[in-house]
Amino acid sequence: MRLVLLGPPGAGKGTQAVVLSKNYKALHVSTGDMLRDALKKKTKSGILAKDYMERGELVPDEIVTKIVSERISKADAKQGFILDGFPRNKNQAVDLDRELKNLEISLDMVLYFKTSELTSVERLTGRRVCPKCGINYHVKNRPPKNNNLCDTCNVILVHRNDDKVETIKKRLEVYDRETKPLLDYYSESGLLREVSGNLDVDGLFRILQNLFKKENVA
Ligand code: AP5
Repeated sequence: MRLVLLGPPGAGKGTQAVVLSKNYKALHVSTGDMLRDALKKKTKSGILAKDYMERGELVPDEIVTKIVSERISKADAKQGFILDGFPRNKNQAVDLDRELKNLEISLDMVLYFKTSELTSVERLTGRRVCPKCGINYHVKNRPPKNNNLCDTCNVILVHRNDDKVETIKKRLEVYDRETKPLLDYYSESGLLREVSGNLDVDGLFRILQNLFKKENVA
């Protein structure tokens, strides 16, 4: 399968992408994770991206488009991929179309996780992440087994820098202005399917399984 996941910050794109990637053997391509990894490794793109990410703004298109194009051209993306957090504006969507054309492939579907602002804020303020394996937890919805420790790595979970209330507000504003217009873009191309991002993880996964079956996406 080749999917794009769209939705506001905290809609559950990353969480659901992990579940889908495991069950459908598709590569999970998260631009947020790739940028955070680049920053950890102090690469040129990571250093350039840092300030934008901390402010909750979009990193310049050329940086993000390059890392996505490189990633989806690799051999392990041939089995399929799930784009989580890309594209984020019209420019990036046009660049993605161009790259897919070069690779002679197309998207199966664009999933829009429609989510209320209240849910986004509640999920992001409660999100905790394992700095080692990157797994997401939530203090109420998905708590770790042991107090603030990753179930797998046993290291202390962290609160993402951009998950502070003021930065979340900024990210939601940027989403409304830059990313929301992509709903029309993908609706016009017939690829958009709306699902509720307010559902729990398993409930949403079951809905997606039925949708893929109905539309022959594998
Ligand atoms: P990125 O990391 O992509 O952040 P985001 O889009 O804001 O998305 P989030 O990771 O916050 O939310 P999510 O929908 O994945 O939710 P999650 O599953 O984690 O981007 C960060 C920054 O990088 C951007 O601000 C920008 O600067 C830069 N960037 C990235 N891509 C870019 C691009 N293309 N162009 C330019 N700049 C770019 O879930 C959140 C919480 O809720 C977790 O705690 C989870 O456990 C919980 N949860 C998830 N699903 C459910 C559920 N169904 N029920 C209950 N709880 C749930």
